[in-house]
Amino acid sequence: MKKFLDEISDIMAEAFEACGYETKYAKVTVSNRPDLCEYQCNGAMAAAKAYKKAPIMIAKEVVEKLQEHPAFGIIEAVNPGFINITLSEKFVAAYVDGMYQDADMGYEKAVNPKTIVIDYGGANVAKPLHIGHLRSAIIGESIKRIAKYAGHHVIGDVHLGDWGLQMGLIIEELRDRKPELPYFDESFEGEYPKEAPFTISELEQIYPAASARSKEEPEFMERAHQATLKLQSGDKACRAIWNHIMNVSKTDLKKNYDNLNVSFDLWKGESDAQEFIPDMVQDMIDKGFAHESQGAMVVDVAEETDSKEIPPCIIRKSDGAALYATSDLATMIQRERDFAPERYIYMTDKRQEMHFTQVFRAAKKTGIVKPETELTFLGFGTMNGKDGKPFKTRAGGVMRLEQLVEDINEAVYNRMMENRSMTEEEAREIVKVIGLAALKYGDLSNQASKDYIFDIDRFTSFEGNTGPYILYTIVRIKSILSKYAEQGGDVLAASEIKSPVNLSEKNLMMVLAKYNDVMEQAYAEIAPHKICQYIYELSDAFNSFYHETKILSEENADVKKGFIAVLVLTKRVLEQCIDLLGFEAPERM
Ligand code: ARG
Repeated sequence: MKKFLDEISDIMAEAFEACGYETKYAKVTVSNRPDLCEYQCNGAMAAAKAYKKAPIMIAKEVVEKLQEHPAFGIIEAVNPGFINITLSEKFVAAYVDGMYQDADMGYEKAVNPKTIVIDYGGANVAKPLHIGHLRSAIIGESIKRIAKYAGHHVIGDVHLGDWGLQMGLIIEELRDRKPELPYFDESFEGEYPKEAPFTISELEQIYPAASARSKEEPEFMERAHQATLKLQSGDKACRAIWNHIMNVSKTDLKKNYDNLNVSFDLWKGESDAQEFIPDMVQDMIDKGFAHESQGAMVVDVAEETDSKEIPPCIIRKSDGAALYATSDLATMIQRERDFAPERYIYMTDKRQEMHFTQVFRAAKKTGIVKPETELTFLGFGTMNGKDGKPFKTRAGGVMRLEQLVEDINEAVYNRMMENRSMTEEEAREIVKVIGLAALKYGDLSNQASKDYIFDIDRFTSFEGNTGPYILYTIVRIKSILSKYAEQGGDVLAASEIKSPVNLSEKNLMMVLAKYNDVMEQAYAEIAPHKICQYIYELSDAFNSFYHETKILSEENADVKKGFIAVLVLTKRVLEQCIDLLGFEAPERM
């Protein structure tokens, strides 16, 4: 469907044209004086200069043409030249009914779908997940859903950090703890065991212990480095332990991501890119893109127009080791081979911005991706505590994901139990659903690039701009609909949206009518927060309607049916939106 504002602007454009003015002046916007009118057109002010006429004259001429138009309830020219618009009930209802009849509620899918790789999550195998990974997962999941909903072919890849020093650290710590394992027996020739030599809780303990040790004991660090090198050059025993680490850790990561309602199409990692590195580096040297600098191989990526220094992208260290950038470039080679994406979107903490600037430039310069391939880096801000400093747990340590989720759920639970009667069991289940909404909405409602304050009290509140408030609104609608059914009403028989009976219903419809516009913006600007803003506005509009209208006690069955249709549409829109944000609503709360 055409966007609602465009529809109004088009009517306006015809009138401008009929009066002899260019249609570009006919743009309509939502009124910034809602006390005076619903929409406005300020084009006469600009046209005045071009046509050397008083703006009010132009506005009056246009308004004159539109007096009888069925779209408008009131249309008037006011000094010094504004056109104030109040729409007719019929016009608003007809548009919203169009949404009601359409499976996608008037949102049109991309005509030329693109293949898009979204690189998010980015957990490091065997290391604890931190806040940055949480944000990447939450924001990335939403962006993936938004892009899919826009009709694109989207591949979400978790891109694990699975090839670094942590592997050497674990191998060496394991050697000291369990020297009897066959992996550490040089003369062992049989098959290595299928069973991992550790559980996830052991692994969770081994890495931090090893990491702490490496800071105290230089020899241990050296051993870890050697083990990492051995792994990377294909040593059988190291590879076998690595496989165990991967399996155990991935199972656990999947569980964590599942709990967050986050899922990936691909579980690739840095290790998958390694096979492409030797040829890639050689090719860059052969073609003259890479040159030696202080023993390292680098690709110059500075450009004349740079306002700050962009250092060369290092692809091989002087000791021959590959780097983060090398692995990201090699991953692009693999993605080009597998998907030839038209667009890449990467999601990490904004502190990695320089890295991605270098990688993107090197990828274009060396022809790894086509000149027209769109490379997007979405750097997000830090999650801070109430003190404005990076978020820590109550004990002062870095947060663990499980702990964070537990804290949120506890807060939701306490609020729910304040004034509700529910069995403990039911409450615990519902709390998980609401807790996730509180966490995700708290994050996604901020523009991603900004830092934000993690405030459990605010995020879990059932009032205000929060996830629980949105869920509460959906649950309220569900409950009205089921009461309607209990009274013998047939929700499915509410087949059409009728003219609004009061201002709050009309306002609700006008907010509903923005839907496709908001979806389009959320995708174009890769901005989940636009969806949050929208559903907050929609929930408010719905709740005003609810408070000002007797829905179930309405005596006219036809009018009541119209209400039910509006409720159903509001619910569909809200549910679609929260699905794009990556959470769900419970049946009751
Ligand atoms: N593992 C990285 C980290 O923890 C994030 C990976 C982001 N993706 C990428 N292609 N570099 O910082």
